[in-house]
Amino acid sequence: MEQTGGGGSAASQKTATLTDNETGDQLELPVLEGSLGPRVYDIRKLHGQTGAFTYDPGFTSTGSCASAITFIDGEKGQLLHRGYSIEELAENSDFMEVCYLLLHGELPTREEKAEFESAITYHSMLHEQMLYFFRGFRRDAHPMAVMVGAVGALSAFYHDSTDITDPHQRMVASHRMISKMPTIAAMAYKFSVGQPFIYPRNDLSYAENFLYMTFAVPTEEYTISPTLARAMDRIFILHADHEQNASTSTVRIAGSSGANPFACIAAGIASLWGPAHGGANQAVLEMLEEIGHKDRIPEFLERAKDKNDPFRLMGFGHRVYKNYDPRAQVLRQSAHEVLDELGKRDDPLLDLAMELERIALEDDYFVERKLFPNVDFYSGIILKAMGFPRSMFTVLFALARTVGWVAQWKEMIEDPGQRISRPRQLYTGYGPRPYVPLDQR
Ligand code: ACO
Repeated sequence: MEQTGGGGSAASQKTATLTDNETGDQLELPVLEGSLGPRVYDIRKLHGQTGAFTYDPGFTSTGSCASAITFIDGEKGQLLHRGYSIEELAENSDFMEVCYLLLHGELPTREEKAEFESAITYHSMLHEQMLYFFRGFRRDAHPMAVMVGAVGALSAFYHDSTDITDPHQRMVASHRMISKMPTIAAMAYKFSVGQPFIYPRNDLSYAENFLYMTFAVPTEEYTISPTLARAMDRIFILHADHEQNASTSTVRIAGSSGANPFACIAAGIASLWGPAHGGANQAVLEMLEEIGHKDRIPEFLERAKDKNDPFRLMGFGHRVYKNYDPRAQVLRQSAHEVLDELGKRDDPLLDLAMELERIALEDDYFVERKLFPNVDFYSGIILKAMGFPRSMFTVLFALARTVGWVAQWKEMIEDPGQRISRPRQLYTGYGPRPYVPLDQR
């Protein structure tokens, strides 16, 4: 493809010419430019004008929407929310502020922040009848299975916020999901360990409330460590949004049909569950335990490099980052703070993780493929130290990512050009053939 045309912005007349070398047909494609990031060939008219489709399974070269929420430069290892770097937000902000920023586009004033926090706080209780849902699951159900079910069920309880054409209802649904997710996550945990559910408390911050509902028991006072609450809040910030990843795209695709927001977020949770996405933090810990000792690192690195072995180095590599994931940098630091606070400074898994990281980053295979630690590499170690069982790791990711899903869903619904997402395919099956009756097969 040859690029033609002069300078300018998205509205300018830059074009690229696509030539079909077999037929000689040519098509002028507009070239769009975002405020940051690479230029984009606009192929929306391709099918209408040529009858052809593009082929991009895995969407490695496809921009599925225009969005003003999050920007990632994978080469630089840069992540911005509404223009603010993730490092600065993790250092100076808090999760409620980041939620407001993602939803509304700007950092809140003092009054806006207080009002937002109050709205989130006062929606944190679940409809009491939701408890029957939890009780209907097997005790050993994975908490992600419980979460997918419980969040989907919210649409059966909150009918007054499922009309997606009403901006007020959209906002109430957004607040409800951000607010109720910690309650659902904590209840999923309590149910799995057979402890009584702990109701939310309005005098606690978002992160404190979640720790309280998860770890408190009715028989004794629960003291919340400020260091752990801060670490929890930071983990929430680092997972809040990440552009058009698999689960966010799932939410957008589900929402593009006009489905209610609770159902869309349940779809996002299902997508996040897989080990190639949000399930990786659990997989990292399992891998570190399997490796067991620094001496065995070379053996596992060889397995990760062997194409005949399905083993991959979990927590390494990313579709977009071809540099250190900036969230992993922050979490590496947090891991030390949390383990210090808990008196677990000499945690063998953290030692093993750092040694594995050091060796992998010097290994040609990982260097050539630009495989760096991602956000999941250190989060499992922190969460384990804080007392969360492995099965809860992805649940925590879902809890934090809810605001990103909701913000992206809202942005899509509010886009006047929004249409149902309906990709096409490269068909490789049979052509038309006559039906064969059962007795002739
Ligand atoms: N270990 C060993 N080799 C790897 C790894 C890994 N973790 N990741 C990628 N590679 C290799 C691939 O085998 C491939 O090698 P090749 O070019 O010789 O065939 C090359 O690096 C490119 O990898 P792809 O699979 O094409 O990259 P893709 O963008 O499709 O996958 C993914 C990205 C799924 C994250 C992958 O790196 C992976 O499976 N990592 C481990 C799981 C993980 O940590 N997931 C969390 C992602 S972050 C998140 O969801 C929050």
